[in-house]
Parts: sequence; structure tokens; C-alpha cells
Amino acid sequence: MTRLRSTSPVLPCALCGFCFTWYWQLGTETMRSTIPTNDTAQTVDSSGHDRLTCRVALIGFGTVGKSVAKILCERNDCSLRLTHICNRNIERKKQPWVPNDVIWTDDVQSVLKSDVQIVIELIGGITTAAEIVRGALEAGKSVVTANKQLIARHGPELLQLAAKNNCQLEFGASVAGGVPVLPALRTGLCGDRLHGIAGILNGTCNYILSRIEGARIPFSEALEEAQARGYAEADASEDLDGGDARAKLAILVLAGLHTWVAPESIRARTIRPIDAVDFDYATELGCTIRQISRANLNADSSGSAALLAEVGPCLVPSGSPFGRVQRNLNLVLTSGEYGGDMAFLGAGAGGDPTAVAVVSDVMFVAEGLAAGKKAAAGYVSAKAVSSDFETPWYLRFFVRDQPGIVAKLAEILAEHHLNIDSLLQKPGYNKAALPFVITLEPCRDSMLHPALEKMAGLDFSLRPCLCLPVLREA
Ligand SMILES: NC(=O)c1ccc[n+]([C@@H]2O[C@H](COP(=O)([O-])OP(=O)(O)OC[C@H]3O[C@@H](n4cnc5c(N)ncnc54)[C@H](OP(=O)(O)O)[C@@H]3O)[C@@H](O)[C@H]2O)c1
Repeated sequence: MTRLRSTSPVLPCALCGFCFTWYWQLGTETMRSTIPTNDTAQTVDSSGHDRLTCRVALIGFGTVGKSVAKILCERNDCSLRLTHICNRNIERKKQPWVPNDVIWTDDVQSVLKSDVQIVIELIGGITTAAEIVRGALEAGKSVVTANKQLIARHGPELLQLAAKNNCQLEFGASVAGGVPVLPALRTGLCGDRLHGIAGILNGTCNYILSRIEGARIPFSEALEEAQARGYAEADASEDLDGGDARAKLAILVLAGLHTWVAPESIRARTIRPIDAVDFDYATELGCTIRQISRANLNADSSGSAALLAEVGPCLVPSGSPFGRVQRNLNLVLTSGEYGGDMAFLGAGAGGDPTAVAVVSDVMFVAEGLAAGKKAAAGYVSAKAVSSDFETPWYLRFFVRDQPGIVAKLAEILAEHHLNIDSLLQKPGYNKAALPFVITLEPCRDSMLHPALEKMAGLDFSLRPCLCLPVLREA
């Protein structure tokens, strides 16, 4: 067996004086890593640039952009060089800690026409960001972005454009912020055949639900608190109603299940009707409530794959990995045919954790450029997406108390061939607006739906029935 032996362990880089070049001796031949060496004559190209230094431009100098710039400026190696920082109205953005040779500009086109090799897009939004990313790829520049809405909507098209132009597109920070789940799907798990992905992908919802759980406060109070602490925007609809999480789920499905699905075709249920009383009843059942995004790829009888996907609040066992995720953390679980289950947990947002994911992507792309890699665009479009999961169910009613309520509900459930598992009514609640719960044995969503429609018309019902899947295996 050939052994790699370090001969002269570290040599200072002649270009920057700070970074180090490793040499290994393989037999009698000295091998060199792709990090710049003291062989200056061979590494300078006709434009006077060091060929082994990758030139990087940053577009969007906000929360994440500023953290990315800081990490790049503080790195003690010369394999990456930040050359441009671009933002609208750039003058107010200038920072003294950025080296003098970095160009500050508000002219995106000048960046795209420059000789940078990697463009980092961190402006957010869809239309302008898409134009910038397309423009960069068409100009032969690789792109790193943290933009979930952009990738969820245009990912396949942009991956194809990257491959066509011999460049790369990476979006590791677009799901779960600083948690390296997308890089894990791209490299560490690509040898498996994944069939399931589930996650807590929205820190705002997790914060609100864990606050209701911990303090038994109403939903509106938990939302106000999240807004006051900066965990929720003034209009938090994208988070609360599942739009944010389903864009992230669509990206996970693309990267992990190699299946393209438009985010809008994934059903999203809101967390708004969750009440403190639901945590009382969930606790009785050994559970808590979390917003779960989940997707399963099932082979149908014809052998082709059918995708089940959904985002929404679910009951999960309190002691389970999902049940233990508190506040604004993210957790992603993957299930593979060969490797079984894997878990990824960490900070799903925040300038610095997200910037780490962005810079890691930039380093990965820079290495790929040195090795002549281009984007892989392998995926299939989902034939259809359904949310017809088969699970046990939690049904919570608010009723005006009167005789015969349970008998009427049981009659409707029986008519629809649905089996009751348990009936819970805790004492002490106001009889004028009495909450109680029925749990059902496993059935498909499509079987339950007609029964819920019939229940909605009952005169004792004060609010629509809250219907949550119970994920016992979560
Ligand atoms: N923040 C997080 O924790 C997090 C986590 C994961 C992913 N992400 C993603 O990362 C991206 C950036 O998020 P962020 O939180 O850093 O946003 P941000 O703080 O709003 O920063 C965006 C920056 O881009 C600038 N900008 C916006 N539109 C522009 C345009 N048309 N031309 C030039 N500059 C423009 C903004 O300038 P102004 O100052 O004038 O507004 C701002 O400086 C988004 O795609 C986001 O979804 C963020």
C-alpha cells in the first residue's frame, strides 16, 4: 500500500506570507495541493491575476452579506479574494474593516462584466435575484446563493444554465441556514437512495410553538413576542402559513430525492389555530406540536415514483428528536434505503451561521473550478404531488356543551369508516366553549376530509375542528 508522508510539513505561501502550502511525498514524487505555492512565475496569468486565487464578488451587503464579507476578509489564506461588494446606494454601506482593494459599487452589470469567477447573490427576493444569477451564469461565472424562494422556483432551470455554461451553482444556505444538510445530501449521502426527508425548517414557527408550549400563552401573544424579539417579521404570513417551509422542502426534495416539485403544489397548513389547550391535550397523549415539513417518495404499482409532501403542524412524541427541538433551531431527518436515518440539527438562520454555509459553498465551488467541475442537473419532475399521508389523527373541537355531541360526532365518523382511538375531555374548562379531543386510528387524509366537512355544519360547533396528523414514528 502506498503511504502518504509529510516531508516538509508546512511552508509559508510566498504570495500572501500567511497561508501555508502542504507538500506530501508519494514515493519519490513530490505532490502539491491546489493552494498557491511559491512558484509565482507559473501562477500568474496574462491579466496579472494569480491563477490559483479565486476572485469572488458579493452582491447584497445586508445581514448575511456583511457576515460573509467579514469571514472572507478575516481568512488567512489567499485561495479566495473578495474583489467587489455590490449593493444599492452603496455609499452608506462602506465599512472600514474591508481592505482598500475591494471595489464598492451599486452597478451590478460592472460586476458581471468583471473577471470575477464566483458571484455570491445575497439580495433576496425573486425577480432581480433571478436576473443577476442568470446574468452571472451566462457570463460564465459560478454562483453561490442563500435564496430559497429563487431556488425553489427556478432551481432546475438555473442548474441547467450553470451546466450549459460550464460553471457551478450552489445554494447550501438556502435551507436550514447554517446546518449543512444540503452539502450532506450532495456529498455524504449521495451514495444512498433516500426515500424520506422531514424537518423543522422554520425557526419562527418553532419559536412560537415552543413558547405556547412552555408558557401556555395564546398564539397571538407568542406571535407578538416573536415579533418584538426579531424572530418574526411584521407580516409573518410566509412563516406561519407554511410558504417559507414548503420552499425549503421543495429544495430538499430536489437535492435529496432528485425530484422537482413546484413549491405551490405542496400543501401547507397554517399554525395559526394552535391554542394553548392543544398542548394540554398533546401532553396527555405523550406528544407536543411542531411545524413539520415532510416528503416521501414511494414507488407505485407501475414502478414509477409518487411523491407525498406536506407542511403543517403535527403532533410528535415529546421525547422524539422533533419533540425536543426548542425555540428557533432547525432539524432535518433523512431516511435512506441503505444508510437508514440521519439527523442534522443547528441554527437555521442568523447572519453568521448562514454566512458560514455561504463561505463553505464558495470554497467548494473554488475547489471545483480548479478541478474543472460543473453543475450536475440530475433530477426528474414529480408526476404528481399528494398530501394523502396515512397517519393517526388528532381532532380538537370547541363546542357549546349539550347532550348528544359525542354521539353525533361518532355517528359521522362511523359513516365514513373512521375508527376512534380515544376520547379526551379534561375537566375545568368553560362549558360555553368546551374544548375536547378525539383521536383516530390511522387513515388517509382523503378519507377524513369528507367527515370533517360534515362536522363543520353541526350547530354546537363553535370553531372549525382542528385536525392534526400524529407522527408517532417522528
Ligand atoms: N438572514 C438570515 O438568517 C438568512 C438565513 C438563510 C437564508 N437567508 C437568505 O439570504 C439572503 C439575504 O438575506 P439577508 O437576511 O441578508 O437580507 P437583508 O438583510 O435584507 O440584505 C439584503 C441586502 O441586499 C440589498 N439589496 C436588496 N435588493 C437589492 C437590489 N435590487 N440591488 C442591490 N442590492 C439590493 C439590500 O439593500 P438595502 O439595505 O437597501 O435594503 C440589503 O443590503 C436572502 O435570500 C435570505 O432568504 C437569510
